[in-house]
Parts: sequence; structure tokens; C-alpha cells
Amino acid sequence: MSIDNRENDTPSSSMKLLLRVIPRPNETNNTGDIFGGWLMSQIDLAGAVLGIEYTEGPIVTVAVKDLTFLKPIYVYDLVSFYGEITHVGKSSLTIHIEAYAQRRNVFHSGTLKVSDAILVYVAVEKPGVKRLISKRD
Ligand SMILES: CC(C)(COP(=O)(O)OP(=O)(O)OC[C@H]1O[C@@H](n2cnc3c(N)ncnc32)[C@H](O)[C@@H]1OP(=O)(O)O)[C@@H](O)C(=O)NCCC(=O)NCCS
Repeated sequence: MSIDNRENDTPSSSMKLLLRVIPRPNETNNTGDIFGGWLMSQIDLAGAVLGIEYTEGPIVTVAVKDLTFLKPIYVYDLVSFYGEITHVGKSSLTIHIEAYAQRRNVFHSGTLKVSDAILVYVAVEKPGVKRLISKRD
């Protein structure tokens, strides 16, 4: 397996580090790299960290507006998820997430942008019942 570890992509300074995870062998697909569904789930969790923090309460994902897989992720890569809120509505938040991989065993030698996504979350009082968001600076 050829593993590129020389590039150095970086998120913009407005993005906040939300989650860092190392995928294990049980997350692979039949080509040996990491299953896209695993990455989608981590992106959703990373966005939820920011959404819960901002709204100070529970949220649900209402839509994935865009999701691109840019490069493969391999078992034991260190995957870091960064995000920022791009829109605050009455009850919804739009969140931009970017994922970056550092190749296994060589975390220090390069960072690759592997995915980019836009998700919309809705603040809820309880399942199915939205709540208003107080806008903050
Ligand atoms: C999210 C949910 C509570 C919304 O309930 P609702 O009373 O029908 O709400 P609305 O249609 O008024 O939408 C609420 C907000 O979401 C936004 N929204 C709804 N669907 C959207 C979509 N497909 N794309 C973007 N925004 C959307 C609306 O524009 C609105 O934004 P605003 O309040 O900031 O103006 C309800 O649809 C739900 O429970 N969905 C299931 C969520 C879920 O199970 N997610 C997976 C597990 S986390």
C-alpha cells in the first residue's frame, strides 16, 4: 500500500479542533482503507460537539448538505476534525467540517485534508421538538 505522508494541508485559523480519532482494522472496507460510513459518522459527531457547545443543549442532524471524500484514510492514521459555524438560524445551525489525516506511525511528517462537509443541525427540547437558539458572538 502506498502511503503519502509528505503534504501539509492545514485548516483555516477560524476552524476549531473538535475531535481526533485513530480508526482500527474493523473500520475497513474491502480495499483495505477506511470505510466512508465510519468517516461520515465521525464528521457528524464532530459537528455535534460544536453544535451542542454553541446551543448549550441537545441537537439533531437534519441534513448533510455536502460531503466530499478527497483522499483515502488508512488504519491507524490519526484523523483530526475541525469545524466552524457558518450560519445560525432560528433553530438551526449550519456547520462546516474538515477532516485531516496524519499517516500512521509518522504523525509528525505531514497532514492531508481527506474530507470536507456541510451539515445542518437543529436544536431540540426533546426528540422531534425544535427549540430556539440564542445567537451569540
Ligand atoms: C429536526 C426536526 C426536529 C425539525 O422539526 P420541524 O419542527 O419540522 O422543523 P422545521 O421544518 O421548522 O425546521 C427547523 C429548522 O431546520 C431547518 N431545516 C429543516 N430541514 C432542513 C434541510 N433539509 N436543510 C437545511 N435546513 C433544514 C429549517 O430551515 C429550520 O431552520 P430555522 O429554524 O433556523 O429557520 C425534525 O425534522 C426531526 O426530528 N428530524 C429527525 C432528526 C434526526 O433524527 N436526525 C438523525 C439523528 S441525530
